[in-house]
Amino acid sequence: MLSLRSILSVPNDLLHSPYQRRNGDKMLRKLSMTGDSSIVRPMTIQEEIKQLGPWFHNLHLPSGEQTAPNHTLGDFPAFKWRDLQALLPADLTNWRVLDVGCNAGYYSIELAKRGAYVLGIDVDPHYLRQATWAAQQFGLSYRIELRQMQVYDVARLDGEFDLIWYMGVLYHLRYPLLSLDILAQKTRRLLMFQTLTMPGQEDQPTPPDFSLDDREEMLAPHWPKMAFIEKRMAGDPTNWWAPNHACVEAMLRSCGLRVAARPAHEMYLCEVDEQLRQGQQWNQSEYLSAVGLAWQEAVGAKVKDKNHYMSPR
Ligand SMILES: C[S@@+](CC[C@H](N)C(=O)[O-])C[C@H]1O[C@@H](n2cnc3c(N)ncnc32)[C@H](O)[C@@H]1O
Repeated sequence: MLSLRSILSVPNDLLHSPYQRRNGDKMLRKLSMTGDSSIVRPMTIQEEIKQLGPWFHNLHLPSGEQTAPNHTLGDFPAFKWRDLQALLPADLTNWRVLDVGCNAGYYSIELAKRGAYVLGIDVDPHYLRQATWAAQQFGLSYRIELRQMQVYDVARLDGEFDLIWYMGVLYHLRYPLLSLDILAQKTRRLLMFQTLTMPGQEDQPTPPDFSLDDREEMLAPHWPKMAFIEKRMAGDPTNWWAPNHACVEAMLRSCGLRVAARPAHEMYLCEVDEQLRQGQQWNQSEYLSAVGLAWQEAVGAKVKDKNHYMSPR
């Protein structure tokens, strides 16, 4: 029988998973009331939730408990999932799914419930501990693989994913377009994208070319823009970039993705568009260099017409 690991094709150097090796370990708590600290009993679910906190995802556990019932954003992310769930096939059997920035695993769990094999990745061991525990609570550990990985590490994974779930991460990155390029190249069918944005919903096509003297055009509200956050936003130093809506759509297009649906504010369900993808092949060498692969052969496509378009007309 195929193992989850072989289905997800995670290479050996990314197999280090201290979180899931602890799968099956019962969380134990020392009994203090008796004064005998050698006596232990299994922790209650409530105690385990507390010990694993603080939580960003409010999971509704099969036991009836919730992990963050007093979340400042409300019942998060259940209220976001309600906007998205109808857009996806109810049966994801044999779909290979990647959940980037999986946090405590809310979406990984929902997608695994539909039959998908999910690889959930996150940089933060705190959240991976929560996701490991949560997958056990739902009896879904056999369908959910959790790894401590950066989004950029996805370039080193074998194969493609039928669905990539990429919500709430891009604005935390210093290299946002690289992340989208990497994920677009790993998408077989769909990519669900969400990011915090800057204000502005205008969207109209930009000209195919424009003169150096017409740069004023870039100040128009419909021009794709991304605001750089050098300091903090909402007290959080991990925010770097906030694109406007036009910029989100333009970035997705330039990565070879077509927006198929906009289920809610800041959410984009994308499909691979081969024509858009091919349109960017001339720049493949830069992508290869950024992900540490040999790029010299591919650079020919980038430099072959350079002298032509740079010479005076
Ligand atoms: C705002 S939370 C979003 C969580 C979840 N995707 C959602 O939409 O509810 C951002 C998550 O991305 C993770 N993250 C931040 N930078 C990352 C990176 N470079 N690669 C992978 N995950 C990252 C954080 O640890 C955190 O769990």
